[in-house]
Amino acid sequence: MAKIGMFWGSTTDMTKEASELIHEGLEAAGHEIDSHDIRNTDPSKMLEYDNLLIGCPTWNVGELQDDWEDVFSEYEKLDFTGKTAAFFGIGDQVGYSFNFLDAVGMLAKPYMENGGKLVGKWSTEGYEFDESLGCVDGEFLGLAIDYDNQDDLTEERIEAWVEQIKDLFE
Ligand SMILES: Cc1cc2nc3c(=O)[nH]c(=O)nc-3n(C[C@H](O)[C@H](O)[C@H](O)COP(=O)(O)O)c2cc1C
Repeated sequence: MAKIGMFWGSTTDMTKEASELIHEGLEAAGHEIDSHDIRNTDPSKMLEYDNLLIGCPTWNVGELQDDWEDVFSEYEKLDFTGKTAAFFGIGDQVGYSFNFLDAVGMLAKPYMENGGKLVGKWSTEGYEFDESLGCVDGEFLGLAIDYDNQDDLTEERIEAWVEQIKDLFE
């Protein structure tokens, strides 16, 4: 089973909570997960893993969460060749319908441009929003979680997503 480095940022702890649920699910599937809060982790740490989980909520109307913002200029220069990553994003599709989950797109774009393989795209079925940088060709680039409006769906979404990605890491 694979060793996976999970990197997340969280201002009000919702992404932290999601990261814990994802951690539990993938661990139960036999993977070994190292979890890192990007607040006190250098992004170059990502290069120590072939498999990555990257989590970020969208903040400040279409912006990265503050700790991701602080490291973004370093993150976007990393060479992700040979890596497999799955992204997860937290947002509010009602309050920020024109920027729902933008942060996932903002982090996934340089990752793919710098050679990374992305897994774990997620259907937009069951969500209502107008625009999202996290959505390309009608699909989210990673798991979309909305604690503000659809908290009751969070656990089942995480379970289904873990099931979808669990065999895609090497
Ligand atoms: C001031 C503010 C701005 C926000 N901007 C966005 C946004 O542009 N897009 C979005 O999808 N969610 C937005 N959100 C919702 C947050 O992403 C959501 O509350 C999330 O659960 C916060 O995650 P965290 O607790 O891990 O920091 C915003 C929330 C606040 C309070």
